[in-house]
Amino acid sequence: MFSKPLMYVLGLQTVSAIAVSNPLRYGYSCKIMPADIPSLVNITIDDITTHLYDGCFTSYQLTQAYIARIGQVNSTLHAVVELNPDALTIAASLDAERRNGKIRGPLHGVPILIKDNIATLDKMNTTAGSYALLGAVPPSDSTMAAKLRDAGAIILGKSGMSEWANYRSSNGTSGWGARHGQITSAYYPNLDPSGSSSGSAIATDLGLSLATLGTETSGSIISPSERNNIVGIKPTVGLTSRYLVIPISEHQDTIGPMARTVKDAAYILSAIAGKDKNDNYTSQIPFDTIPEYWKNLKRTSLKGAKIGIPRNAITSSNDTTTIITAFNQTIEIIRNLGAEIYENANFPAYDQFLQSNNSDMLMGVDFKTNLKQYLSLLVQNPNNITSLSDLIKFVKSDPREDYPDRDVDIWIQAENQTCVDNTCDAARKAYESNLYLGGEGGILGALKSAGGKDGLDALILPSSFASDIAAIAGYPVVTVPMGFYPSNTTAAKDEYSRELFEIAPGLPFGLSFLGRRFDEQKLINFAFAYEQETKVRERGTTYIAPKAEIKDFL
Ligand SMILES: *[C@@H]1O[C@H](CO)[C@@H](O)[C@H](O)[C@H]1NC(C)=O
Ligand SMILES: *[C@@H]1O[C@H](CO)[C@@H](O)[C@H](O)[C@H]1NC(C)=O
Ligand SMILES: *[C@@H]1O[C@H](CO)[C@@H](O)[C@H](O)[C@H]1NC(C)=O
Ligand SMILES: *[C@@H]1O[C@H](CO)[C@@H](O)[C@H](O)[C@H]1NC(C)=O
Ligand SMILES: *[C@@H]1O[C@H](CO)[C@@H](O)[C@H](O)[C@H]1NC(C)=O
Ligand SMILES: *[C@@H]1O[C@H](CO)[C@@H](O)[C@H](O)[C@H]1NC(C)=O
Ligand SMILES: *[C@@H]1O[C@H](CO)[C@@H](O)[C@H](O)[C@H]1NC(C)=O
Ligand SMILES: *[C@@H]1O[C@H](CO)[C@@H](O)[C@H](O)[C@H]1NC(C)=O
Ligand SMILES: *[C@@H]1O[C@H](CO)[C@@H](O)[C@H](O)[C@H]1NC(C)=O
Ligand SMILES: *[C@@H]1O[C@H](CO)[C@@H](O)[C@H](O)[C@H]1NC(C)=O
Ligand SMILES: *[C@@H]1O[C@H](CO)[C@@H](O)[C@H](O)[C@H]1NC(C)=O
Repeated sequence: MFSKPLMYVLGLQTVSAIAVSNPLRYGYSCKIMPADIPSLVNITIDDITTHLYDGCFTSYQLTQAYIARIGQVNSTLHAVVELNPDALTIAASLDAERRNGKIRGPLHGVPILIKDNIATLDKMNTTAGSYALLGAVPPSDSTMAAKLRDAGAIILGKSGMSEWANYRSSNGTSGWGARHGQITSAYYPNLDPSGSSSGSAIATDLGLSLATLGTETSGSIISPSERNNIVGIKPTVGLTSRYLVIPISEHQDTIGPMARTVKDAAYILSAIAGKDKNDNYTSQIPFDTIPEYWKNLKRTSLKGAKIGIPRNAITSSNDTTTIITAFNQTIEIIRNLGAEIYENANFPAYDQFLQSNNSDMLMGVDFKTNLKQYLSLLVQNPNNITSLSDLIKFVKSDPREDYPDRDVDIWIQAENQTCVDNTCDAARKAYESNLYLGGEGGILGALKSAGGKDGLDALILPSSFASDIAAIAGYPVVTVPMGFYPSNTTAAKDEYSRELFEIAPGLPFGLSFLGRRFDEQKLINFAFAYEQETKVRERGTTYIAPKAEIKDFL
C-alpha cells in the first residue's frame, strides 16, 4: 500500500531527474487516506519521505501539526523552551524546492528540535536554559545547525535542558532550567525526566518533532533516552563538531541524535557527522566519506557477533534488580539472534576508575577554558559575561536563577582549581589517565579480553551503567529501549530529588551497546537487530499525550 522511498535506492540525481522529467508525478500519487497517515508518535523518516514525495501532505502541514502538539503538552512538561518563529516559512520554502524537483536528502522538510545549548543565528536564543545568555548572538549557526539546515531539516525550536547541561548545582534536579522551569517525564506525573537532554528526550518520545539533537558530556544523551523510551546515539568525541555549542569539556562533549527508531537516529547521524576546521577533534575521523549509517541495516546483524558483558560495571541494589533481571533476559534474546556471548568481559581497571577524580578535575578546568572560548566568539553578549567568574556573579544575583536554593558549587570547585586553564600539566595528566581508564583499562581492555585475535565486536550493559566509562575517553554508546518498571512499582522520591519521583510504575529503561572509537556503524547495526526483534518501545504508556495529527491540517 505504501510506495517505497525509492529515491534513496536510486540516489538523489536520479530522483531529481524523475521529478523533473515527470513533474506530474509529484503530489498526485498519494495512495493512502488521511486517516491512514501514521500517528506522529510513530511516524518515521521513511514514512515522511514517502508521503511528502507522494503529496499526501506538505512539510508546512507537518510543521503545523508539530507546533500544535507542542502547544498541547508543553504547559505540563516544559520540554520546548522556544519555537522557531520562522519554522513555517522555512517549511514552505522546502516544499517549494521539492515541487521544483530538488530533494536534499532524507531530512528534506523534516522538523527537528535541538537542545538549547546548540547555537543558531536566527530569531532564537541559545542559553543552556539560563538567563545569563538570553539575547546573546553567535557569529553564525553552530556547525550542527548548519548541517541540519543543509540537509533540509527544519529547526523547529529549542528543547529545554538541565541548566548548563547539569554542570552548575550540587543540589539541583535534572531537567530544571531557569528559563523553562522543571521539565518532567511523560511516564508519570512529576517523574524525573533525567538529563541533561531532558526536553530533547521527551519531545522525541511524544512526537513533538520527528527527532531531536542532544549533547553528552557524561550520560546526557544516553540517560534521558533510556528514561524516556527512545533511541539515543552518543557519538565518539570528534565525530560531530562542537563548534558553537555551549561547552562543558572539549575532552568529553559530543552531539548526537535522539530518535524513536534506530534507523531514524542513523539518518540524522549521517547528516551531522563530519570534519570541521572549527573543531580540530574532528580531524581524528578515520574516514573521508561519512558512512550512510542507515543504509544496510539488517535484522540479522547480531548473527556471529561477539558480544561481551562487563559484569564488574553492574552494581546490584533494590532499585536495579528490575533492570538487571530484564538485562539477563535480554542477553538470551541476543544469544538467540546468533551472537556469541562472553560473560565477564570486564573493564580491567574499573576499581581504579571508580576511585579516580580525574574527570571532576578535568571537567572543571575544561569548563573554565572552553566557556571563555565560547563567550569570546559571541558578537552580542547583553550581560557582558566573558568568564566563569562573571557567570557565577550573574547567576548569584539574578533571582530567576533560583540561587541559593540551587547552588553553584560545581562552578566554585572549578574556579578553585589551581590550574588556570586546561593546558596545565595536571589537566594533561588527568586526560592521559582517563584515556587509559576508559580505553585499555576500560572499554578497549574489555573488548580485547576475549574473542581471539580481533577481540569482541561490542559490549552491552544496562544503560544506567554505560555512560561514565565511555565518557572519559570519548567512546561511542547507542541505547535502545529494553523494558519498564512493572505497574505495581511504588513511586518513590529520594532525598535529593525535591518534588520529583525517581522510580515509578512504567518507568522505561534501556540497553546500551558500547564499542571502539568511530565504530558507530557496528553499534547501530546491533541495536537495529535487537530493536526489530523486540520492539520494546511499543509497550510503553505515557500518562499524557498530544492529540494533534497531520490529518487535522490537511
Ligand atoms: C503506534 O504504533 C503502535 C504499534 O504499532 C500502536 O500500538 C499504536 O496504537 C500506535 N499509536 C498511535 C497513536 O497510532
Ligand atoms: C529570544 O530572547 C529575546 C529576549 O532577549 C526574546 O525577545 C525573543 O522572543 C526570544 N526569541 C524567541 C524565538 O523566543
Ligand atoms: C513551554 O513551557 C515553558 C514553561 O512554562 C515556557 O518557558 C516555554 O516558553 C514554553 N514553550 C513554548 C514553545 O511555548
Ligand atoms: C587541537 O588544537 C589544540 C590547540 O592547538 C591542540 O592542543 C590539540 O592537541 C588539538 N587536538 C587535536 C585532537 O588535534
Ligand atoms: C532492599 O529491600 C529489602 C527488602 O524489601 C529491605 O529490607 C532493604 O532495606 C532494602 N534496601 C535498601 C538499600 O533500600
Ligand atoms: C544476572 O545474571 C548474572 C550472571 O549470570 C547473575 O550473577 C545475576 O545474579 C543475575 N541477576 C539477576 C537479577 O537475575
Ligand atoms: C583528587 O584526588 C587526589 C588524590 O586522591 C587529591 O589529592 C585531590 O585533591 C583530588 N582532587 C579533587 C579536585 O578533588
Ligand atoms: C555591558 O557593557 C556595555 C559596554 O561596556 C555597557 O554599556 C552595558 O551597560 C553593560 N551591560 C550590563 C548588563 O552590564
Ligand atoms: C542547596 O545548597 C545551598 C548551598 O549549600 C543551600 O543554601 C540550599 O538550601 C540547598 N537547597 C536545597 C533545596 O537543599
Ligand atoms: C573553594 O576554595 C575556598 C578557599 O580555599 C574554600 O573555602 C571552599 O570550600 C572551596 N569551595 C568549594 C566548593 O570547593
Ligand atoms: C509486582 O508484580 C510481580 C508480578 O508481576 C510480582 O512478582 C511482584 O512481587 C510484585 N511486586 C510488588 C511490590 O507487589
